[in-house]
Amino acid sequence: MADFVNDYWHWFIVIVSLVSILILFPFIYMNRGNRPSGDPETMGHVWDDDLEEYNNPLPGWWFNMFVITLIFGLIYLALYPGLGHYQGLLNWSSKGQYDEEMSVAAETFDPLFDNYALVDIRTLSTNESAMKTGERLFANYCAGCHGSDARGAKGFPNLRDNNWLYGGEPEQIRISILDGRVAVMPAWGPALGEEGAANVANYLLQLGNREHDKTKAGAGLQQYQQFCTACHGVDGTGNQALGAPNLVDRTWLYGGSLETIMESIMNGRAGVMPAHKDFLGEERVHLLSAYVYSLSQEFEQD
Ligand code: HEC
Ligand code: HEC
Repeated sequence: MADFVNDYWHWFIVIVSLVSILILFPFIYMNRGNRPSGDPETMGHVWDDDLEEYNNPLPGWWFNMFVITLIFGLIYLALYPGLGHYQGLLNWSSKGQYDEEMSVAAETFDPLFDNYALVDIRTLSTNESAMKTGERLFANYCAGCHGSDARGAKGFPNLRDNNWLYGGEPEQIRISILDGRVAVMPAWGPALGEEGAANVANYLLQLGNREHDKTKAGAGLQQYQQFCTACHGVDGTGNQALGAPNLVDRTWLYGGSLETIMESIMNGRAGVMPAHKDFLGEERVHLLSAYVYSLSQEFEQD
């Protein structure tokens, strides 16, 4: 049954494609018309008193282009896949071409990455030409989320500062890239309600020495201790083992306004950094770790 269905569509495509191309040959010859001798005939339409429509045949070169396109179509369909599951005489496939290009690239670049992989990340991060290559890899594979300047965006951490969710030591950066990270910030809306969330949020503002409502912050203290300290710590400075951010500094992943903090608390957050181990391989990840590490070295340690 499955075979029949597969073959049915195969033949459907083959027949419809070939028949429609073949039919076009007699069709365009029939409509070619003869070269007029003397006065061309008109279609009988007249606009603006003197604008008439002639019934001229197509110029020869134009007509030939039609014929050439049709022949091109037939040759193309003979050489390349296009007719159902017929593979084409050249046996070309986009996957085959991709694999071939990738293996050429791998032959050229792999020895380079293998060499870099022997150098420890800290040292590699000071190698200028390695960092140029790292920058290119970053632009290809990471900039889509972290920005071409690596400064991130809402929900995507800035990698150009000294503020780390999971730690800024070379090995911690490497693990972030290699295995990916999945953040789990549960939604507290159901447990706290809007009022409770506003209280805890004000308590966070108080911890961060920012403008806050004293009464609400007082009410939030107890809830913070009950629900939040396990991950964010008693003093709110977070926990890198869990990727729980520091809530008392000026750096926010999602935003530090009262509204956004409340939104984080009520709805929870679940940032995902995808694993790159299988996709890029350990050697490229090693180089990228050095590159990311080098970005943070441009900053004074704080
Ligand atoms: C199970 C551990 C866990 C608990 C418990 C927890 N959080 Fe979180 N929280 C996280 C993680 C992990 C993140 C980072 C989410 C991300 O990266 O997507 C986070 C993010 C946040 C953010 C966003 C920070 C930013 O930089 O934008 C706020 C605000 C926050 N938590 C407040 C709280 C409050 C208040 C509580 C208690 C009601 C709480 N969290 C309880 C793990 C936790
Ligand atoms: C699909 C989007 C996406 C891509 C692609 C991506 N990242 Fe991430 N990355 C994230 C998110 C989201 C986080 C934060 C996870 C969280 O909320 O805990 C993150 C976290 C990180 C961290 C940890 C930062 C910290 O503060 O500890 C590093 C390092 C990192 N990414 C580097 C990279 C590199 C290098 C690449 C390219 C190979 C890359 N990322 C590609 C989305 C992405």
